[in-house]
Amino acid sequence: MAMPSVLLCNGCTPWQRLLFTASLLACWHFSTSTAQVTIESVPPQVVEGENVLFLVHNLPENLIASVWFRGLKITENVIAIYDLKQDFSAPGPIHSGRETVYRNGSLLLRNVTMKDTGRYTLRTINRHGDIVSTTIMNLHVHKHVMQPFLEISDATVAVEKSVSLICISPHDDNSFHWLFNNQSLQLTDRMTLTVTKRVLRIDPVRIEDAGDYQCEVSNPVSSKTSLPVRLAVVKG
Ligand SMILES: *[C@@H]1O[C@H](CO)[C@@H](O)[C@H](O)[C@H]1NC(C)=O
Ligand SMILES: *[C@@H]1O[C@H](CO)[C@@H](O)[C@H](O)[C@H]1NC(C)=O
Ligand SMILES: *[C@@H]1O[C@H](CO)[C@@H](O)[C@H](O)[C@H]1NC(C)=O
Repeated sequence: MAMPSVLLCNGCTPWQRLLFTASLLACWHFSTSTAQVTIESVPPQVVEGENVLFLVHNLPENLIASVWFRGLKITENVIAIYDLKQDFSAPGPIHSGRETVYRNGSLLLRNVTMKDTGRYTLRTINRHGDIVSTTIMNLHVHKHVMQPFLEISDATVAVEKSVSLICISPHDDNSFHWLFNNQSLQLTDRMTLTVTKRVLRIDPVRIEDAGDYQCEVSNPVSSKTSLPVRLAVVKG
């Protein structure tokens, strides 16, 4: 396939020319290279406000460019391009000012936000304009969890009555865990947890249920425990 004349892009700056190249590559044929480019997230778990480096392993040789873009379609989603021939990097249309692409293909993302969650693609291009490799990286940005608050339906309950404890937390997708007297709560057949584990119901209550309850919220990067709530059980 001949190079489309638009690639010559008369009057363009070198990086605009690269951008043109990149946007047209989507419809070009793939080379038969067997390069196994892999991307490693450093650190593996990414927290809002921190930096992450997408470390590229086995970058093919004899490339003219590495292109990073968001999602799967290259058009308009280019973050940055590294022109290996002229040895400089150029920002793409969606570059936010926080990304740096290095000669070795790695991409540094500074001060990540929840909006950075998603798919990132690295595409490498050889001097014939062939795509040598396309590697996808999924970024999930975590927030540090906030301390949950534990609410009790009734702090003093008579034996044989019921009580509900509600773990209040602004987080949706985190895991909830319950503590009783500073130990992991052992569920009995009188206790039920809602599917999300946010509500603990004890029915019927017994003397041995009296004590301190806490809930804990955690995600892969942090965990927080509520202040204890004391349940008193009186004989009915
Ligand atoms: C690529 O370059 C960056 C920045 O200099 C560096 O942190 C990273 O370790 C390099 N990656 C590899 C695979 O050498
Ligand atoms: C990081 O991003 C937030 C907004 O997303 C901004 O308020 C903050 O100033 C940024 N921090 C740095 C060090 O750039
Ligand atoms: C739980 O731990 C706290 C702080 O370590 C302590 O003050 C409290 O007495 C403990 N409660 C029980 C029931 O062991």
